[in-house]
Amino acid sequence: MANTSIILPASDMPRAWYNALPDLPTPLAPPLDPQTQQPVRPEQLAVIFPNALIEQEMSPQRQIEIPEPVLDVYRLFRPTPLKRALRLEQAIGSKCRIYYKDESVSPAGSHKPNTAIPQTYFNKIEGVRRLATETGAGQWGTALSFACKMFGMTCTVYMVKVSYEQKPYRQILMRMYGGEVHPSPSELTNTGRAMLAKDPGCKGSLGLAISEAVEDAATHDDTKYTLGSVLNHVLLHQTIVGLETAKQLEMAGEKPDYLVGCVGGGSNFGGLVLPFLPRKLAGEKITFLAAEPRACPTLTRGAYRYDYGDVARLTPLLKMHTLGHGFMPAPIHAGGLRYHGDAPIVCNLAAEGLIEARAYYQNECFEAARLFLSTEGFLPAPETSHAIKAVIDLAKEAAPGSVITFLYSGHGLLDLASYEAYLRGGLTNFELPQEDIDTALKDCPEI
Ligand SMILES: Cc1ncc(COP(=O)(O)O)c(C=O)c1O
Repeated sequence: MANTSIILPASDMPRAWYNALPDLPTPLAPPLDPQTQQPVRPEQLAVIFPNALIEQEMSPQRQIEIPEPVLDVYRLFRPTPLKRALRLEQAIGSKCRIYYKDESVSPAGSHKPNTAIPQTYFNKIEGVRRLATETGAGQWGTALSFACKMFGMTCTVYMVKVSYEQKPYRQILMRMYGGEVHPSPSELTNTGRAMLAKDPGCKGSLGLAISEAVEDAATHDDTKYTLGSVLNHVLLHQTIVGLETAKQLEMAGEKPDYLVGCVGGGSNFGGLVLPFLPRKLAGEKITFLAAEPRACPTLTRGAYRYDYGDVARLTPLLKMHTLGHGFMPAPIHAGGLRYHGDAPIVCNLAAEGLIEARAYYQNECFEAARLFLSTEGFLPAPETSHAIKAVIDLAKEAAPGSVITFLYSGHGLLDLASYEAYLRGGLTNFELPQEDIDTALKDCPEI
């Protein structure tokens, strides 16, 4: 049997992230001030972000050096393995070769520490003491709690209530790292209190939890806000995944035909595909395929327009594929894919036809997860199962001999309550009626 793991030597870990901004075929539409609808000035962002991250958000440099203290923490789990999914290939009779980049080996169990670590570091060196954030599935909150522990900072996490209830063990892990976790909507912020007054049973959404965390940061001098996805600097940090993958595919003597990832806010997908963008633009035939839930189908059914990043309209307006900032997605088990928008960089490339997207029901994704577990042995996160479902379909359609690489964004060992619900046959395949999208989009600003 062939060796299925392609291990990059520690000495070959990338020393710089790849910034796709200067290579985008059409420039990114600027973020706009939510009040004036004029392009946001860096000083305005400084209320909630440190300067280094604001610079990265807009940087024209292709390479951004990774600071040594960040590399040091990365070394706890990086480089991560690239694996050939031979048994999965055999089980589905695939004539394609399937590889997966395994980000589940990080302390948090997902790709999220790749950006939590540098975000925490850049805040720390600018004198910030506490970080506030939101979390959906709990992966981001875990990653940030871990990173804060590494750099001696305090972490406050607003966790979407539906996930807080579905994933009790995630909060324990966050608290073990020293994080403070509150179900959102909470009584701690004006936004949370207003929502609870309107709807005491509200199960929350990422957009709402973001509003709470932003309000917390904006109202405390020693606190800044961190976002686990969507923003340019988050995708920048995640490019370490694609940069390593490129080296590992080369070690395996392979050229990628398809790169696949699930999309919540777009950071794991962006991190995988962006380092391959220059090759694609130079004419190499590589398909970038995004997998998303049918219950929250931003890329496949959202409108490409300016919208707020959060329910309370505190964040800058971003041009993205959106279902409307007030959109409350159905409580699917892939909590990390329940965001109404997507990263502007991913949306820009999708609008240019450089990224394709497909949407799936949760039961077919859990089925794919079970097949992956039964063949490769590992239990994926419900979010990751969307990428696996896309890969299984793709392997049946693609030309024989194609190389399909996907991002295994996280493990599902803390998602067992969701798998139990699946085993009981309890998962609903939510349909999203067009009128729900149309109604939520009515609240987007006309720009
Ligand atoms: C395991 C896992 N995969 C994927 C995602 C989706 O996020 P993003 O699209 O930013 O990578 C999440 C979000 O929480 C996650 O926890």
